[in-house]
Amino acid sequence: MNSYFQKHKAELIDAPEGTFNWWHSMPLPNGKRISGASEDKDLQFKMWQALRIPNEGGLSGKRVLDIGANDGFFSIAALMAGAESVTSVDKDWKSWPGNIRYASGAWDVQPNIITADFRTHNFNQQYDVIFFLGVIYHLEDVFTCMKMLRELVADQGVIYMETQMSGIHSELPIFEFASDIYPTIAGQGKDKRDMVGISNYLFPNEPAVRNLAHTYDFEYESLDGPDNVYSQELPARRIFKFTKLA
Ligand SMILES: C[S@@+](CC[C@H](N)C(=O)[O-])C[C@H]1O[C@@H](n2cnc3c(N)ncnc32)[C@H](O)[C@@H]1O
Repeated sequence: MNSYFQKHKAELIDAPEGTFNWWHSMPLPNGKRISGASEDKDLQFKMWQALRIPNEGGLSGKRVLDIGANDGFFSIAALMAGAESVTSVDKDWKSWPGNIRYASGAWDVQPNIITADFRTHNFNQQYDVIFFLGVIYHLEDVFTCMKMLRELVADQGVIYMETQMSGIHSELPIFEFASDIYPTIAGQGKDKRDMVGISNYLFPNEPAVRNLAHTYDFEYESLDGPDNVYSQELPARRIFKFTKLA
């Protein structure tokens, strides 16, 4: 296992020139980590572990698409887990693409970095694995996006989806829509509408995620259990695996 994935009490440094402090703290090959906003400095390791990728054979030979890649933590992790190629796409965040360029340079791995709204970009290929981590609730047009994701993923390919959940528990599928008028789990931020990745639109409950998967012919799995310390510690955040049925 590469030191990139190891939890350790590394010295935290401020974002180097040309980069910004993000939510996670990014590990560097010199053993230091770029300080992140989350108080949990092992957050991204817990999230990575919850995906179970190393336990399920790694990513050897897989073409990976990381949508909303931001600081590039998961893109770099995928390359280190043996991915044949990683395409990393993001758009408006000020940390983009400075952070991913810096960190992938430091680790000497080469993601294919694309600055675009993934909804309008022509990828011209399919991927075996798609990371869709922390993105779905930023999308106003979630159903159109699911159709797009189905086209982007190869047969038997998988989408890992991480999302904040609605606090409304029901056997029925519920999308809790963000609003600046009615109190919901998050404000919509209408002043930020159409700013990619800033505004919030909806938060699903678990049956809604399951329904979404089945609507677009994906096998559905909720990644819970003892290895998902991430969701145990942050129950409002869950991780799901959609496998494309041919
Ligand atoms: C909450 S962050 C999650 C970042 C990263 N995936 C992670 O889990 O740490 C959401 C990211 O998705 C990006 N994003 C949201 N909508 C997008 C879109 N339509 N096209 C490209 N990037 C998008 C945002 O810019 C932001 O960097």
